[in-house]
Amino acid sequence: MNDDRRIIIFDTTLRDGEQSPGASMNQAEKLRIASQLEALGVDVIEAGFPAASDGDFEAVKAIANTLKRAQVAALCRASEADIRRGWDAIKDAAHPRIHTFIATSELHMKYKLQMEPSEVLKKAVESVKLAASFTDNVEFSAEDGSRSDRDFLCTVFESVIDAGATTINLPDTVGYAIPEEFGQLVKYVIENTSNIDKAVLSVHCHNDLGLATSNTLSAIKNGARQVEVTVNGIGERAGNTSLEEVVMSLKTRPNFFPQTTGINTTRIYPTSRLVSMITGILVQPNRAIVGANAFAHEAGIHQDGVLKNPMTYEIMKPETVGITKNSLVLGKHSGRHALNAHIQTMGYNLSDDELNVVFKKFKNLADKKKRIQDEDIEALINEGVLRSSEVFCLEYIHVLSGNTVFPTASIQLNINGRPVHGSTEGSGPIDAVYNIISKLTGTKSELLRFTISALTEGTDAQGEVTVRLKEDGITALGKGADPDIITAAALAYINGLNRLEYLKTHPPKEEALL
Ligand code: KIV
Ligand code: ZN
Repeated sequence: MNDDRRIIIFDTTLRDGEQSPGASMNQAEKLRIASQLEALGVDVIEAGFPAASDGDFEAVKAIANTLKRAQVAALCRASEADIRRGWDAIKDAAHPRIHTFIATSELHMKYKLQMEPSEVLKKAVESVKLAASFTDNVEFSAEDGSRSDRDFLCTVFESVIDAGATTINLPDTVGYAIPEEFGQLVKYVIENTSNIDKAVLSVHCHNDLGLATSNTLSAIKNGARQVEVTVNGIGERAGNTSLEEVVMSLKTRPNFFPQTTGINTTRIYPTSRLVSMITGILVQPNRAIVGANAFAHEAGIHQDGVLKNPMTYEIMKPETVGITKNSLVLGKHSGRHALNAHIQTMGYNLSDDELNVVFKKFKNLADKKKRIQDEDIEALINEGVLRSSEVFCLEYIHVLSGNTVFPTASIQLNINGRPVHGSTEGSGPIDAVYNIISKLTGTKSELLRFTISALTEGTDAQGEVTVRLKEDGITALGKGADPDIITAAALAYINGLNRLEYLKTHPPKEEALL
């Protein structure tokens, strides 16, 4: 990886991405995403922030102990306790990396850290030295780097490289930079950090002005060799630079960018879907590369052109990013083998037990819906495999509704292995369902958002419901799919409550940590 044209892809979906509101994931979910990222070809996976919570520590440790090829990074503040905890979590990884950071902008130093620049410099150096005593793979980030004094930034970078940092990262923490300016800053750092040849220069951009990808590409053009990204661009506030946009920009414009990556682009779309399903964060239809409309040609003139030669209106082939919408539609008579073969073409590898669960659900769905499409199968995988350790499960649901009756819902749940049932009324069928679920589970969450959409075309389509719940200051997303939209709404609510239960025992990081 000494080739200067090979860009190192550092993925922080599991750390910065997890800081998206409501996106908290449990350990099994994080492990699944980490394995998918490794298969995607990501070079460095930032698995989490071990000092933030015991749950984070355990998840980082599990990922570190599982991955074989990718480097596993643990984020640590520039403090002895954080670095020791971080190292404890990753010390058994095949390729561990400690990533330590401290803010270098005047604003952050004065108001957040209440430290003098000389103290910040000292802390940065001490932290990197400590990290370097554990591993020779140490990354240092100058938080709010893009708003820092350029010369102070170069002094800090020079000192931490002397102290043992092998990667120095320049973050645009608040998404304030403009591409040309950010590229110039990268160039300035390269020209004014005397020992820069001993480290890899990385960038980490946020998308507050919608410029994260542009800033990252401008940085690459000016000499950055590592880019920090997330799948679907999820992350704090408006998100981070999106992995797929940067990777496909380099691949699609090789004459402009001689740089390459180690990403297997055909795994981009399955990875995007997996992250969306696990986090519950929907991908907007017009999102570049991975949105539902990214390769859809609506205008007649475009359709005509694409039929004559796809290159008229398509700059990338959908198959290049793993969109394999083949016409094979599964149905009632499809066997376990055909289902598995199809699931594999969608980019998933299920164990025998997981396949059994999905196959059973598939047969149930096929009794209700003739043509089972990819979107349906994804929903089955989501419900049957990706959701783990559920406290509340739906056993049955009966709902009475119409314009001449009081909507009433009767429900049986399984709560920690114990069946409980009850019924109640509501202003509408969903209100009735949510009232009885809340009563049976003894939860008092607030419903902040409720959306419903059809997974596929046709009146027999599965309805997919997404909810956003809040309880005791914690928010969580829930998703459910079923041909019966009231059942889908119940499943989404129960999924959201399960996520809240998990978060109650694994509290999210304190806001003040970052
Ligand atoms: O945005 C940021 O500055 C960060 C650092 C911790 C790298 O996420
Ligand atoms: Zn960040």
